[in-house]
Amino acid sequence: MRFVGVTLALASLAAGESLKQLDTSLTILTSNDLQGDASPNADKTVILTDAHPYQDVSGVCSKLGEQLWGPGKGQCKRNIAALPFSEYLKGDGVAGASSKFWVSGSDSKAVDVAGRYSDVNPSKSRFRGLCTNTAPFSTQSSQDTDAKWQISLDVNNQTLTGFRDRLSFRFLGIRYAPQPQRFTYSSSFKGSGEAASALSYGSQCIQGGSGSEDCLFLNVWTPYLPNPNSKPKKKALRPVGVWIHGGAFTGGTANDATFDGANIVSRGDMVLVAINYRLLAFGFLALKDGKTNGNYGLADQITALDWVRTHIHNFGGDKDRITVFGQSAGAASVRALIASPKAAGKFSGAIMLSGLGGINYGTTYSQYYTINEQATVAATPILAATNCTDAPSQADCLRAVPASTLSTFNSARYLVVDGTYLTTPTLPTKGPHLPLNLMMGITHDDGAPFLSFPPTTTPPINQTTYLASQGFTVPPPALFPFPPTTTTTTTTGNASLDLYTAAARLATDGIFRCAGQATAASLLAHQRLNALYYYEFDRTYQTKGWPGTDVCEPRATAAHPHGDPSGAPYLKCHSGELYYVFGNLWRQGLPLRDEGDLGFARLVLDGFAAFVRRGDPNVEGGWLRARGLQVEGGEGVGRWEPSRKGKLTMRVLDWPTPRQSGFRELEQCEGLGLGLDYYEKK
Ligand SMILES: *[C@@H]1O[C@H](CO)[C@@H](O)[C@H](O)[C@H]1NC(C)=O
Ligand SMILES: *[C@@H]1O[C@H](CO)[C@@H](O)[C@H](O)[C@H]1NC(C)=O
Ligand SMILES: *[C@@H]1O[C@H](CO)[C@@H](O)[C@H](O)[C@H]1NC(C)=O
Ligand SMILES: *[C@@H]1O[C@H](CO)[C@@H](O)[C@H](O)[C@H]1NC(C)=O
Repeated sequence: MRFVGVTLALASLAAGESLKQLDTSLTILTSNDLQGDASPNADKTVILTDAHPYQDVSGVCSKLGEQLWGPGKGQCKRNIAALPFSEYLKGDGVAGASSKFWVSGSDSKAVDVAGRYSDVNPSKSRFRGLCTNTAPFSTQSSQDTDAKWQISLDVNNQTLTGFRDRLSFRFLGIRYAPQPQRFTYSSSFKGSGEAASALSYGSQCIQGGSGSEDCLFLNVWTPYLPNPNSKPKKKALRPVGVWIHGGAFTGGTANDATFDGANIVSRGDMVLVAINYRLLAFGFLALKDGKTNGNYGLADQITALDWVRTHIHNFGGDKDRITVFGQSAGAASVRALIASPKAAGKFSGAIMLSGLGGINYGTTYSQYYTINEQATVAATPILAATNCTDAPSQADCLRAVPASTLSTFNSARYLVVDGTYLTTPTLPTKGPHLPLNLMMGITHDDGAPFLSFPPTTTPPINQTTYLASQGFTVPPPALFPFPPTTTTTTTTGNASLDLYTAAARLATDGIFRCAGQATAASLLAHQRLNALYYYEFDRTYQTKGWPGTDVCEPRATAAHPHGDPSGAPYLKCHSGELYYVFGNLWRQGLPLRDEGDLGFARLVLDGFAAFVRRGDPNVEGGWLRARGLQVEGGEGVGRWEPSRKGKLTMRVLDWPTPRQSGFRELEQCEGLGLGLDYYEKK
């Protein structure tokens, strides 16, 4: 007995259980309230199998290191009906109200979703089974990749071994492109029949002295793996979100736990793919040689999209329902993908979170340099510093520079009009209809972290001097009064803070808000899209570590030691929406500051996931209830209305009262030369 046990352990260590050999689909069913193992539903979770005779289903469960799920000891047999997602079993399009399942101790009986047992023939009857699901939750600092949780799939002529946690299957560090020669475009990777581990992240793209040039990897999270031995039913395939990280085109990685997909795929019933793409000079350097044309990082994103379209069905994803989404430079990437002829038709949904545009630091994210312009701005200093300016081939000279040296130059971080990947200096707002649903928006004070806090001198530095130091000229005082008097920010008596707050309004309008609203207004005016949903976050939870200033966090009080979001005004800064969108507050080990944080996280995640599922952030009626979940804020929260030509409306994402509002700061935007018709003049 002992010997057999050891052999089995070794066998499964090799490559995990092969899904092909298990000959079943697997669906992790949870009722994910985003509270991880603190949830009252944490243990009410199962893995659903395909229909097979009793012994086979039981065998699948044990090969997974699980057993057939059963009502707890001493509990009544109708317990299956008490699974929070029992309605989902009925409503997922595969099982009906009278469908039967194998559960533990039912070898000659099967149970339906109402909890009714009936006598059946265990060897002749084929029912779907419910296995227990005891894999631990992963957290931002721990993932249990023990052989027991591993599962392997044949994908792209590779045998990929990933693993599962309580919420999803995780396949990390999948290669989508071989390492490209420096300053050339990536091509799709093709396996050679080898086994490949997908148990840990691939290298991040080189930045700030760490990472590698061999970095074209992606991570996949899914709640559903279809049976590789049968053609997956289209209806069973889940929609796919392709996440493009931000970081100014100089940093960031798909491996950042902030965007871990476990919660969004589990609660949102979707597949998430997060991709790396080359950064800095490796991703964006262009030279005037007619060959080194830049946009390599953008091209990587398209190569990754091609991988997704070709292979995502293996992970239960539907290539015809792909939403590309990204924040900051990731949103700039999404904007470029919408504009790029090379990406046309490769996705049907797009979300731009805090895209930049307009004036100052925002400009180049939505108005692209020509190759020559960017060569002057970005390449010249790099060529000079590496002694490559006068080389017979500047590109070859730069190829010989060690990656660690080249990665220290931050200047090459711009998209360019190369005539192939980008053919226009900005996203054309006029043109043929795009079969695309778009969601976009900002945080209330998105621009604040792009300003340094003023020095706290006595007497305080004046507005002119401060704004000049931040690259701004003084705007019309009637539009941008100083001290500030907007509805959410009043004079605090702290002169530096007041100065900063007034400047934050200018930076937000100038770098984010006005260009975003003008983009929406023009796309709608020319009816280029299927639908457009606009938002603004009026509650945020600032990412730890960035920007590391107290102004982006609500003030702590005795009752709210981690900050009171409903108390004194605080700035709703850039990146402050990410923990909510991905539902990862608990996973990050962060405290809930008040009773609203959890409900708001659910509300936000549900809206974004609904958009990925159906191009509409309003959750389908009954969809949450079938999963044992509820509409956060109750039915009273109202609908998230699309923005339309002649009715420019946005969703103010706030707690406890999300609401509709008109577009904001219209006069201020006009005053900055960034009115709603800004792109009409481009
Ligand atoms: C997988 O790779 C091997 C080795 O390169 C090759 O011989 C085989 O044809 C490939 N199979 C497929 C399906 O591409
Ligand atoms: C560039 O050339 C100068 C002068 O020959 C030399 O001192 C410097 O080390 C060189 N820099 C690099 C990065 O090779
Ligand atoms: C602001 O401060 C600078 C430097 O001290 C000074 O030259 C300038 O006149 C001041 N401007 C205003 C409007 O007070
Ligand atoms: C002014 O506000 C800033 C930002 O919150 C804070 O760091 C600073 O200590 C405040 N200064 C005073 C004198 O309270």
